Parts: sequence; C-alpha cells; structure tokens
Amino acid sequence: MDVPRQFPWLAPLAGGEPVSQPLAGQVALVTGAGTGIGAAAARALAHAGAGVGLLGRRPQPLEQVAAEIVQAGGQGWALPADVTNLAAVEAAVARCQALGAGRLDLLVNNAGINTKYRSLDNISAADWSRVVDINLNGAYWCVRAVLPVMRQQGFGLIVNVSSGAGLRPSHVSGVAYSATKTALASLNGSINQEERRNGIRACVVYPGEVDTPMIDDRTVVPSAAARATMMRPEDVAQAILFIATMPARVIVEELVIRPTTVRDRSNELPA
Ligand SMILES: NC(=O)c1ccc[n+]([C@@H]2O[C@H](COP(=O)([O-])OP(=O)(O)OC[C@H]3O[C@@H](n4cnc5c(N)ncnc54)[C@H](OP(=O)(O)O)[C@@H]3O)[C@@H](O)[C@H]2O)c1
Repeated sequence: MDVPRQFPWLAPLAGGEPVSQPLAGQVALVTGAGTGIGAAAARALAHAGAGVGLLGRRPQPLEQVAAEIVQAGGQGWALPADVTNLAAVEAAVARCQALGAGRLDLLVNNAGINTKYRSLDNISAADWSRVVDINLNGAYWCVRAVLPVMRQQGFGLIVNVSSGAGLRPSHVSGVAYSATKTALASLNGSINQEERRNGIRACVVYPGEVDTPMIDDRTVVPSAAARATMMRPEDVAQAILFIATMPARVIVEELVIRPTTVRDRSNELPA
C-alpha cells in the first residue's frame, strides 16, 4: 500500500511509521490566533510541521501562543495587526513570507467578532459596520494580500471560518454576524471558481458552538453546564488540520462541525 504523506494516519495500516509532520516545509498565517479556535489551529498546524504566523490585534496573546509553539519545538511568529487595515495586513503577510523563507501556503481566515446588542431592533449602526469590517472586509483583505504569493507558488489553501449562523441566520448570533458569515461562503466559492486554475483551494468551515472567549460576548451568556456541552477549540483545529493535510488534488469545499448535544437555546435569545 502506497501511503501519501498527506495521510499520516494510514501509514500504520501499511506497516509503516506515521508521518508526524505532514506540513513540514509549509507556512501558515492564522488570523485571530491569540485565543480560541485560532490559537488551537496555530498550535495544531505548528505541531504538524508548518511555520505559523499568528495575527491578531493584541500582541500579548499572540506572543504567548508563539512562545508555546517554539517551546514545543515548532516555529511560531507573532504578527500583530488589525485585519480591517489592508496596509497592516499586507505588511504582516510580507513579514510572514519572509520568516517562512519566501512561502505562504495556508491562510486561516479566523478573526471574527460579535456584539452584545445584535438583533434587528437593537444593533447600532456602528456595531453593524464593525462586524462587517472585521468579519467580512477583514477576511477579504487577508485573501487579497495572500493571493499574489500563492499564485506565484501555484499552491495555496484558504480556510474561511464561518459559523452555523452562516448556513442559516441565527437569532442568538444576530443579524450582522449571520450576514457576514453567510458572505464568507460566497467569498469562499469565488476563490474556488477563480483561483483553482492557479492551484489555490478554499474551504469554508461552519462550526457550531465552541467554548471560547467569544461566548462571553453573548447577550445572554450560557451557563457553565451549557458550555460544557459545546465543542472545544481543539476540535475545530483538528478539522482545519484535516483540510490542510489533504493532497493538492482535493478541495474540501465545505465542512460542517457541530457539538453532539443539541441545546435548547430558547431562553438565550437576545432581547
Ligand atoms: N465560538 C463559537 O461558538 C464559534 C462558532 C462558530 C464560528 N466561530 C468563529 O470562530 C472564529 C474565532 O472565534 P473564537 O470563538 O475562537 O473567539 P475568540 O477567542 O474571541 O477569537 C477571535 C479572535 O479574533 C481576533 N480579532 C478580532 N478582531 C480582530 C481584528 N480586527 N483584527 C485581527 N484580529 C482580530 C481576536 O484577537 P484580538 O482581539 O487581539 O484582535 C481573537 O483572537 C470567529 O470568526 C468566530 O466567528 C466561533
């Protein structure tokens, strides 16, 4: 049995050793990498051998995750930047590419926010714009910044972290969040339509509830018991790693990942 190196978990079946670092030689840029899903994805990708640029606004959490990665023997670089600022994103991409010996193979478009007041009748105009600016415009600025590098390489993967609210608008998640997360699926489709000829692939990931700091921003914050039923950031990171280790001939276009437990959220609806 000939085991492609992208499928390390198959190697033992063929009597061989698992490939412990299937992403060795690759370079990833993860946005929102200081906390939650982004931090877990950065750790997982680094563990799989990728050099990882960690982008977010606050330097301290990025530096902490980068230090953990380095301590574990990997490569992690804190690249503080705001995704709403195209020039800052371009500078971070250039720095990541330089640190990664000229490569940039994987973008995980994960930075995102929500607001406390989020219903049609109480979201402010400023909050609407902030959510669109970070969740949608920011994601697009990152795509725009990495595409020239990926086109030149003839290889690249962009993982767009949407949400269950991107599949179906969610009252709990709110109108701006739901709209931007649906729009990410459209951005994802455009990348696959226009860029696959350049060897660039995109996957939109739709996670259900994950116990991360973002849950604290809910209008009604779920109880500890409710949070215990949610997914962990590492679960979504594992899914991202699966997508990233697929051979270049494969596009995982969409991936839906949900907690096993279905919660009754009727008492958590925003006013
Ligand atoms: N938790 C869930 O249930 C869930 C479910 C589905 C999808 N998601 C999505 O998963 C992604 C990660 O969220 P999370 O749950 O892991 O929450 P989180 O811990 O709050 O992560 C969000 C990250 O985005 C960064 N960020 C926010 N605004 C930014 C900006 N303007 N520029 C750069 N970075 C920015 C934050 O860091 P700074 O504040 O330092 O910039 C933070 O590290 C989000 O896109 C979210 O919508 C979450």
